Amino acid sequence: MTEHKVTPWDVEGKVDYDKLISQFGVKYITDEQKAYLQELAKAKGLEEHVFLKRGLFFAQMDLDKIISAHKKGESIFLYTGRAPGGEMHTGHLIPFMFTKFLQDLFDCNLYVQIPDDEKFLFKKDLTMDTISSMVDTDLKQIAGIGFNPDKTFIFRNSQFIQKMYPLVLETAKRITFSQARNTFGFENDSNVGKIFYPTLQIVPTFFEKGFCLIPCAIDQNPYFLLQRDFAQKMGYEKNCTILSKFLTALTGPEGKMSASNPDKAILLTDEPNKVKKKINKHAFSGGRGTIEEHRELGGDCAIDVSYQWLYNIFEKDDSRIEEIKSLYSSGEMLSGEIKKILIEKVNELLVSHRENVSSAFENGLLDKYMHSGKLAKEMWAKNYFE
Ligand code: TYM
Repeated sequence: MTEHKVTPWDVEGKVDYDKLISQFGVKYITDEQKAYLQELAKAKGLEEHVFLKRGLFFAQMDLDKIISAHKKGESIFLYTGRAPGGEMHTGHLIPFMFTKFLQDLFDCNLYVQIPDDEKFLFKKDLTMDTISSMVDTDLKQIAGIGFNPDKTFIFRNSQFIQKMYPLVLETAKRITFSQARNTFGFENDSNVGKIFYPTLQIVPTFFEKGFCLIPCAIDQNPYFLLQRDFAQKMGYEKNCTILSKFLTALTGPEGKMSASNPDKAILLTDEPNKVKKKINKHAFSGGRGTIEEHRELGGDCAIDVSYQWLYNIFEKDDSRIEEIKSLYSSGEMLSGEIKKILIEKVNELLVSHRENVSSAFENGLLDKYMHSGKLAKEMWAKNYFE
C-alpha cells in the first residue's frame, strides 16, 4: 500500500485515518460528543445527521469546549471556506452541508472565507482573471446551501483585506518562518506569498472573541493547529475543529475526489445523464469478474465505491443501507444494480441543490451574505484600527 500524503493542498495514496489522527494532533469524535449534537438536533426538530451517524465526520480538536460553551450560553461562531481554482465537486458540498446543520443547531454566526488569493499563489498557471471568473460560480453554489442570511458573512479575501489587514498583521507577527515551514513543508523556492498565506486562513478565527468551530475535511487542520500556538497571546480563544474524511474519487480509495480529474469526480454542474455515465463507467466496484462468480461469492462492500458513498453520505435510512449491504454482499444484488441506486441518490441531491442555487439567486441571498444581511453589514462597518 502506498504511504499516504496529506497536506492542505494534496492528498495522495490511500489515507490511513488512524495514523492521520496522530500525525495531525487531533482526536476522534467521542460517542458523548456525537450524542450531544444528535440530541440537540432532535430538540430542534431536525433529523440526526447521517455524516455524524456513520462517521464521515470523525475527528475534532476541542469539540468539548464548544459543547461546554453552548451549555453555558457562551458565544460560539462557525467558520469555513472554499478556495476557487477549479470546478466544485460533491466532496466540496460535504463541509458546507454539515456547516448548515451546525448553524441550525447552534443558531450562531458563520463566516465563509473565499480565499481568491490561495490557489493563485499555489498553482503556477492560474491567473487572477481566471480565478475571478471561478469565484462567481462558487459563490452561487455556496449561496444555495441555505445559510441564515442575517447570521452569515461570505467574503473574498481580495475585497475584505482592507478590513482584515490589522488582524492579518497581528497574526503574521506571531508566526515564524520555521513554524510555517514545519507545518506546511515550504521549501527555499516557495514563493513568499505561499509563506504568508496561512495568516489569511487563520485570521477569521479572530473575527469574534467567542469560541470558533471550524467544520472542514481533515486536510485543512494544520492551519488551525498552528492558530492554537498563539491565539491566547492575542487575546482570543484557541479555535476548535470538527473534521471529515475525504469523499474518495470515483475510481477508488487512493487520494481524494479532485476537480483536476473531472472523469473521476462528480461535479456540481454534472447533468443526470453525465452522472449516470460517470458512475457506470468509473465507480470502482467490489463486484466479481463474472455474474456467476458474483452470485457465488458476493460483492465486497469494503472497497465498493458505490456502497461506500451510499453508506457515508447518500442513504440515510439505516434499515435500507443494511438491506443493500446484505443483498450486495450475498451476491443477490449486482454491481450495476448498486450503481443504479447511487446514481438516483446523487442526482436527487444535485437536482435539489441546483434548485436551491436558483432560488437563492432569485431571492438575492448572495447579496445578503456578502453585503446587506445583518452580519455582513456589521462586518463591513468594522474598523479594527480604531
Ligand atoms: P477547498 O476549496 O480545497 O475545499 C473546500 C472544502 O471542502 C473540503 N474538501 C473535501 N471534503 C470532502 N471530500 C473531498 N474530496 C474534499 N475536497 C475538499 C475541504 O477540506 C474544505 O473544507 N484552503 C481551503 C479554503 C479555506 C477553508 C477555510 C477551508 C479557507 N478558509 C476555513 C476550511 C476552513 C481550501 O483550499 O479548500
